[in-house]
Amino acid sequence: MNRADGTEEAPDGARPRYEQSHPAKSEPRSGSPSHSNMNPTENLTHAATTVTDGGESMYTYDTSRDLAAYFTEIDGRKFGSQASPYLLPADETEFWRLDKQHTAFLVGLGELYPCPDVVERVLAPRPGETIEVVDLGCGTGTWALSMAKRFPHAQVLGIDVSPNPLNPTLLTANIRFEVEDINTGLAHYANRFDLVHMRCVGGGLLDYTQAITYAAQCVKPGGVLIVADLDIMLCAEDMISSQRMATPDYPQGSWLQRYFYEFRWSYAVNGSDVLGADKVLDKGLWEQPLLHGCEAAGVYIPIGPWPKSTDSAEAQRLEFGGILLRQNLRAVLRSCQTLMRKAGIPQDLLDEWVQKCDEELDTLKIHSWLQLRMFWGQRKPTSTTSTQEASTGTSSTEVNFQPSNWVPHRQVHLYHSAEECENARKMRMDTLGEVAKPVALNLAGSDK
Ligand SMILES: C[S@@+](CC[C@H](N)C(=O)[O-])C[C@H]1O[C@@H](n2cnc3c(N)ncnc32)[C@H](O)[C@@H]1O
Repeated sequence: MNRADGTEEAPDGARPRYEQSHPAKSEPRSGSPSHSNMNPTENLTHAATTVTDGGESMYTYDTSRDLAAYFTEIDGRKFGSQASPYLLPADETEFWRLDKQHTAFLVGLGELYPCPDVVERVLAPRPGETIEVVDLGCGTGTWALSMAKRFPHAQVLGIDVSPNPLNPTLLTANIRFEVEDINTGLAHYANRFDLVHMRCVGGGLLDYTQAITYAAQCVKPGGVLIVADLDIMLCAEDMISSQRMATPDYPQGSWLQRYFYEFRWSYAVNGSDVLGADKVLDKGLWEQPLLHGCEAAGVYIPIGPWPKSTDSAEAQRLEFGGILLRQNLRAVLRSCQTLMRKAGIPQDLLDEWVQKCDEELDTLKIHSWLQLRMFWGQRKPTSTTSTQEASTGTSSTEVNFQPSNWVPHRQVHLYHSAEECENARKMRMDTLGEVAKPVALNLAGSDK
């Protein structure tokens, strides 16, 4: 399976490792990815071919058998109908939103990944070795495709509970997608990938800590795990304190803060481990026994183009990121309504909240930041991992561990220790002020 010499192949000549999983077999094309007609069902042939021919999933997807079972339509939106607690839509509107969000993250972070020096060292071509990247919960596949283009010598895999919507003719030869549920375990990928990336998947996980362990086990010794999720609590203008939420006693507070707080509780009531996710995000990966060299970052993206800067590059980044994030949030307010109704929140209340949130987004009188929280670490060398963990793995070149020298721009706050992370969390909690009693929780408690 290994390439003879990964260093010499250009993108056009990259040998597709899973040749039959790439139906177009076309040369990589330039231009931004598009979703073929954005009708997920239209791409299922591709998704099915990918899984069947790649042949490494625990579950083989078959269009003729599974198509009807895959999507459910609720109130004009399409949802994956599998047993996952992930209850956001999988349709054209949602794919558009996810790509907006991806671009906002890209602008906010300034990179496709944090600690670029470490990632690029780990993904550098190594003779006789296949460099592999996986994106867990890849959504539209846009991050995965960007990685496949940037690292043409690498094989990139995107997995998701929903079939991938990317237009197959736009895919490069070194990418493929599989339909899988992280909750059922990833043992078949143990010790395999040089980079494992899992971003914004928290809502679909039954046990966040367990999912991180699964993800860490997929990393080759020497490889990197990157986990990211949105902090649902918005930050105030100073980037340190929490934004105060609107409550009956404090109606001048932020309705966006209130809405996302209610959204989070709706998720929890529906069985997703968002509360566990919060704890992991607060603690970082420092206690994960398979990893070392752990660090964390808070990527602050303004909600709307309100921040000003005398530095033109910074001003542009903040304006563009803010515009994209505002568009994304308007769409999220609507995407998550099915989930919130399922948690018992009545539609008229949701309409009232959305109207107030839209107003906040229009006027930008309240200045908020959304924080993308990122964590990463390198898998410890085989000698310090247990024999059982190592025995299931492929042979790998263990890249020598070297700490990152990355110096990000000032809207990315780097944390080098669990204590630094904890201090930032404490500051946010101390400034939260009064919080509303979540409506979904009240209803759940009253045996609705
Ligand atoms: C908010 S989207 C994020 C997509 C992508 N990671 C990004 O950052 O652009 C969450 C994605 O995770 C997928 N997902 C949720 N739960 C999952 C699970 N248990 N296993 C695999 N994928 C999951 C969803 O289908 C969705 O595509």
